[in-house]
Amino acid sequence: MTQKTKRDFINVQNLTKEEIQYLFDLTVKLKKNRDQYAQVLKGKSVALIFQKPSNRTRVSFEVGIWQLGGNCIYLGPEEINLGKRESAADVAKTLSRYVDAIVARTFTHQDVIDLAKEASVPVINGLSDLSHPCQALADLFTINEKLNEAKGVTLAYVGDGNNVCNSLIFGCAISGVNIKIATPKGYEPNTAFIKSAQRFSDMSGAAITVTNKPQEAVENADVIYADTWVSMGQEAESKKRFKDFKGFQIDSKLASRAKKNYFFMHCLPAHREQEVTADIIDGPHSIIFDQAENRMHIQKAILVFLLGDMK
Ligand code: CP
Ligand code: NVA
Repeated sequence: MTQKTKRDFINVQNLTKEEIQYLFDLTVKLKKNRDQYAQVLKGKSVALIFQKPSNRTRVSFEVGIWQLGGNCIYLGPEEINLGKRESAADVAKTLSRYVDAIVARTFTHQDVIDLAKEASVPVINGLSDLSHPCQALADLFTINEKLNEAKGVTLAYVGDGNNVCNSLIFGCAISGVNIKIATPKGYEPNTAFIKSAQRFSDMSGAAITVTNKPQEAVENADVIYADTWVSMGQEAESKKRFKDFKGFQIDSKLASRAKKNYFFMHCLPAHREQEVTADIIDGPHSIIFDQAENRMHIQKAILVFLLGDMK
């Protein structure tokens, strides 16, 4: 699959079902045969604009770009200071003169959109307040690996209707994965998103359900998924959130409602004894580090997809 014009990766729903399958097939090849792709980004540079801290996203992109033969430039909050020192438009136009792609981790999703609109090179969303598409693709790829096929699987997402949840909703809806979301009242994912994702699930046959009862979501699930209760930028709300999320911790009692051989997933960073107990996240059902590893492989596929064959 070659890109004739510049293409961005802002949200999972920017990809068709066929493109997601293409990325998964390519990821399998990239994982198996790293050397074959060692020159794909030769002579190319990618800028990483990060307004928030990161372990997985930064390191997996940096190492992945290096493994593809490319060069990576990390620009932390103190360098670019997006929207304060310089507008997103000026940053995008300037960087487009130097680099071949931009990975952006921002607070507001609008910043990623503005960068993509003004950049003449592909922009990849490395997490915004609205979505985390690289994470969702890595997660679905991991489910495929573990369960042979993701279609028909039921994933229970328990916690905050946040960026990770939003991307999982669309990823699951497109891929035919049933997603059952349990959040406290007031933390449900945006209803407009659910409505929009429903269009994809109607085609794939997946079901999207939202409840305020974690037990209901986890019942007979193949996968239990958790994320932090306090996302980056929400630290001031910590106290209220800890109170509101009481009863939403994944512990052995809750997990016992899932299928016997369920998998536990978490995008990380995790907070043991908050959203999940240590016996679950460090126990035999947990596949959190496979997820983390697959971030790199899927992102390499995204880079090859967006940049590899561009002339
Ligand atoms: N899951 C994830 O994106 O991790 P980082 O915040 O460490 O990049
Ligand atoms: N929801 C979390 C995800 C971290 C990878 C956050 O935005 O902080």
